[in-house]
Amino acid sequence: MKRIGVLTSGGDAPGMNAAVRAVVRKGLYEGLEVYGINYGFAGLVAGDIRKLTRRDVSDKISRGGTFLYSARYPEFRTEEGQMKAIEQLDRFGIEGLVVLGGDGSYRGAYALTKRGYPTIGLPGTIDNDIPGTDFCIGFDTAINTVLDSLDKIRDTATSHVRTFIVEVMGRNAGDIALWAGVAGGAEQIIVPEKDFSIVEVADTIREGRQKGKKHSIIVLAEGVMKGNDFAAELAEIENFHVRVTELGHVQRGGSPTARDRVLASTFGAKAVELLKEGKGGLCVGIVNNQIVANDIIDTLENHTHTPDLSLFELNKQISD
Ligand code: F6P
Repeated sequence: MKRIGVLTSGGDAPGMNAAVRAVVRKGLYEGLEVYGINYGFAGLVAGDIRKLTRRDVSDKISRGGTFLYSARYPEFRTEEGQMKAIEQLDRFGIEGLVVLGGDGSYRGAYALTKRGYPTIGLPGTIDNDIPGTDFCIGFDTAINTVLDSLDKIRDTATSHVRTFIVEVMGRNAGDIALWAGVAGGAEQIIVPEKDFSIVEVADTIREGRQKGKKHSIIVLAEGVMKGNDFAAELAEIENFHVRVTELGHVQRGGSPTARDRVLASTFGAKAVELLKEGKGGLCVGIVNNQIVANDIIDTLENHTHTPDLSLFELNKQISD
């Protein structure tokens, strides 16, 4: 293999730039040419492709977002979309690819591999919800961003003896809520993976007040419900003078943490090694602190992501 491509797809995540940089620099180190594809699979189909030099990835390691831009592109599921992509790969002489993103990106990577273009998937999403890895690129930065906000919310919550509902991202997964909630000393964490009772939530707020707590911070994963709806349910039981903060897309941005940069660099370099060995249809991950590469389809179809629910139990024990 002489020429490889790299693209970022789906929701962006801090650390994607660090991963692309690693793919480019490791690729050049291994004597490969590396092409950057803009706007994910949409750009691949449209031929929005350019050769990347060493200098194109200078000063990118510290930047959030993705300088290759990203897009959600469901059309890539169709044969027509895939054939157009292959035309472009042939036009640019690209023989293998690295794809950063979530499960949609993994399916695209598998489709290209099956059509003879070995492709490696790297897990990049703040949601941390991709099977086959304990951690995804962007998750650590996102939880630190949430943590910063929780610390600030606690200041004002304490001053006014208020209850705050802080809605965090995660799509259907509770990872962001769990990790940021424990780190931020939240009184309650509500995640899709655990049932909750609004009556118990109210009881816990009341008990906290009785124990002398000056604030009550509830971290709510978006996969459960919207923060305002949660507040409305709570208000039917009692008026706790609730304020709702939806952190929103601030969680997707920002300079990646050291941990995300190292993870992204390691994953990027590993992907190039696998392509050099002629391997494709694999997704890279970190499991029990070891870098692994597993079959994409087996990973998507036979493995599910489960957040570390021991954090949920831990928080119950140490939050009162
Ligand atoms: O997958 C990342 C994520 O930020 C989710 O947490 C969130 O539900 C979704 O993307 C938001 O998508 P969009 O940026 O398209 O609004």
